Amino acid sequence: MPASVAALAPDNTLSFPFNQRWAMMFWSAVFNPDTRFTPDASKSPEWNRGAYLAEALAHCGECHTPRNLAFALDNRKKFAGAITAGWRAFNISSDKATGLGNWRDEDLISYLSLGHAPGHGSASGPMGEAVDRSFSQFAPEDIRAIVVYLRSVPPQPSPDLPATTAPAAPASHRDGVTADARGKKVFASACASCHGWSGESPVSPMATLTGTWAVNDPAATNVAQIVLSGTRRYTPDGALSMPAFGNAYTDDEIAAVANYVTARFGTKGSKLTAKDVAELREQTAE
Ligand code: HEC
Ligand code: HEC
Repeated sequence: MPASVAALAPDNTLSFPFNQRWAMMFWSAVFNPDTRFTPDASKSPEWNRGAYLAEALAHCGECHTPRNLAFALDNRKKFAGAITAGWRAFNISSDKATGLGNWRDEDLISYLSLGHAPGHGSASGPMGEAVDRSFSQFAPEDIRAIVVYLRSVPPQPSPDLPATTAPAAPASHRDGVTADARGKKVFASACASCHGWSGESPVSPMATLTGTWAVNDPAATNVAQIVLSGTRRYTPDGALSMPAFGNAYTDDEIAAVANYVTARFGTKGSKLTAKDVAELREQTAE
């Protein structure tokens, strides 16, 4: 690195011992061998292209692979899903129930290049950013190569997710769950106009909640996150956004609306508390 660039590097504000950068060499020696991507001659050129794109360039595993205690990627559970920046990056192994095993090729292609797949929902948070800034610019044959590679990643089940996602809820708010009345009140005033009472959006298919893991995840992580921070996506049809409600509602109200959403549109519902929401706020603020 030229001296002028080194001089620009911001001061390290971490506390001891984490400010000792040289100590990283031990971690790197164990977990980050300095090797280049090596093609596997027993696989097709398309598979190798997909593996190179997914592993060396797009870093799908940085968000979708769980980490071990030393915070290194645990590749025995490759793509089994993980929490990143407070969002849950769901299982993208070939598991049929909770991974991508049952996704059609065209759905995966659409999700990666447009950030939306009918019946599976839209990419929000860090995945929305990855699609808008990066994957949407990939050539169609590169997206197909990634899909070929994803298909070959061994299945890893997510035991905490239900076996299937829930169907659409009734069209009228009078039918279906009558869970938390406060959650319902927030949903009626802040959410129903875009997401509808059935979960199938009257505004845009991108905002349909039916079939997404976000509303079927009993931890409700991504539901609370998107309510806190909103989302802004750039699609071929223009910008699409959901406002952030983090300043408009208390942690208690956000927990209540998240629990209402998972009960109405998901399989199992959730039991988020105000404390959980406060912790998620911390993680996003970092
Ligand atoms: C910066 C972190 C990040 C990176 C990098 C990333 N993802 Fe994601 N991904 C996420 C998050 C978070 C979600 C959940 C989005 C949501 O709920 O709206 C997600 C969702 C998905 C889904 C939908 C899963 C489902 O069952 O709903 C697929 C498919 C996916 N990612 C594939 C990929 C692939 C393939 C790559 C690499 C080419 C990749 N992702 C890279 C964070 C990431
Ligand atoms: C102005 C319209 C609008 C309003 C109001 C709105 N949303 Fe959204 N919401 C969207 C759009 C658009 C998306 C899809 C975003 C994307 O592609 O990333 C979305 C996505 C979501 C998701 C899916 C997140 C994921 O990870 O897949 C959830 C859950 C959600 N909204 C819940 C809510 C709740 C709860 C409220 C009320 C507190 C609300 N929304 C209010 C437009 C809206």
